[in-house]
Amino acid sequence: MSMLAIDGGTPVRTAPFPERAPFDEREVALVSQAIRSQNLFGLGGPMVTEFERRFAALYGADLAVASTSGTAAIHIAIGAINPEPGDEIITAPITDGGTIVPILYQNAIPVFADIDRTYNMDPASVERQITPRTKAILVVHLFGNPCDMDAMVDIARRHGLWLIEDCSQAHQTTYKGRLLGTLGDVGCFSLQQSKHMTTGDGGVTITNNLALANRLINFRDKGWNRQPGWGPRTYEFLAPNYRMTELQGAVGIVQTEKVRAVVARRNELGDLLTAEISGIEGLEAAPTTEGGKHTYWLYPLRVAGWDAEAFARALNAEGIPAGAHYIGAPIFLCMAALWDKQTFGTSGYPLRGGPGGRSVEYTRGQCPQTERGLKELVTLFIHEQMTEEDILDMAKAIHKVALGLARK
Ligand SMILES: Cc1ncc(COP(=O)(O)O)c(C=O)c1O
Repeated sequence: MSMLAIDGGTPVRTAPFPERAPFDEREVALVSQAIRSQNLFGLGGPMVTEFERRFAALYGADLAVASTSGTAAIHIAIGAINPEPGDEIITAPITDGGTIVPILYQNAIPVFADIDRTYNMDPASVERQITPRTKAILVVHLFGNPCDMDAMVDIARRHGLWLIEDCSQAHQTTYKGRLLGTLGDVGCFSLQQSKHMTTGDGGVTITNNLALANRLINFRDKGWNRQPGWGPRTYEFLAPNYRMTELQGAVGIVQTEKVRAVVARRNELGDLLTAEISGIEGLEAAPTTEGGKHTYWLYPLRVAGWDAEAFARALNAEGIPAGAHYIGAPIFLCMAALWDKQTFGTSGYPLRGGPGGRSVEYTRGQCPQTERGLKELVTLFIHEQMTEEDILDMAKAIHKVALGLARK
């Protein structure tokens, strides 16, 4: 057995991995065109309008609303369903803060379901969290792996709840042949730099439920209903300004042409890695939900038999970028807005009572499978510009580290 690089052996890989390059001259040309047009305001602008049209077409959606971020896209969705203060929204304990912030800004209460072996919410745990105050389920398709959407749709329908999908990490990803983002009532996407398609920062909210259209469209524009045209202004409800500019719209147009190939390539490379490392005892390759197709925003490797940090460090020494524990702890322990109720002034509202609010505690032990899953998690980076050889090097290093590193 060859000596681990971390112990002074020869690394599996010394050449750097290819840098991800999501943009080319096509984006440059369209952004230049936008600037030369002397208009960068997105509402009604040709770039954002065309971007929204193309994004909707990618999903067969009736409406796509472009915005400034994934957080904004989710805020727009929640603003559209308009919860009462203190209403509860069930969501995932492993996610970005951008899933949670919009819930709190609408004065609703995030309630966390535990995960199963897929790292996504366990439908049984979701159902156990439902109370008379539950307004919606906000699923997160983590790392590019679909949630069990048959179960989620069934639960939402039986209990009369809105179903919102956070597809920030799962663009153009299918579950039983259907695209994520179209299975619930509203789908939300981040276009932040690391995502399958990107405008640097940006977001999109899609729906086929046109009853929500007015609030979805105007929630990104201060609640302003511009339909009447010039004259006295009508701001119909409280909302922020999340308007996308023509610069992002221009980039987004080109990205809509690329995203399918990006996703297909990631699926291919991720599945290759899974095939190459399956069968190592104590190590679990990225799980894919039954009926789903994984698109590998990140590649989750479960190293139950080893210390995840030691495993990631040993991989790094072999020349393979890897991280340990992803967000480190359930999101409710990462965000002071949750565990310490740092919300509005010193009120702690709505997590410390007040009109519609109630006293909520977010503590260690509430989601034991989540804590365990994060403890055992190593994340690997896969992107569409990588080659099969890159993946084989990753697999070789994983075999070497698994063999060479003492198991707990
Ligand atoms: C699952 C998930 N939800 C929401 C967000 C928030 O997106 P943004 O950073 O574009 O606001 C992200 C971003 O990483 C994410 O991964």
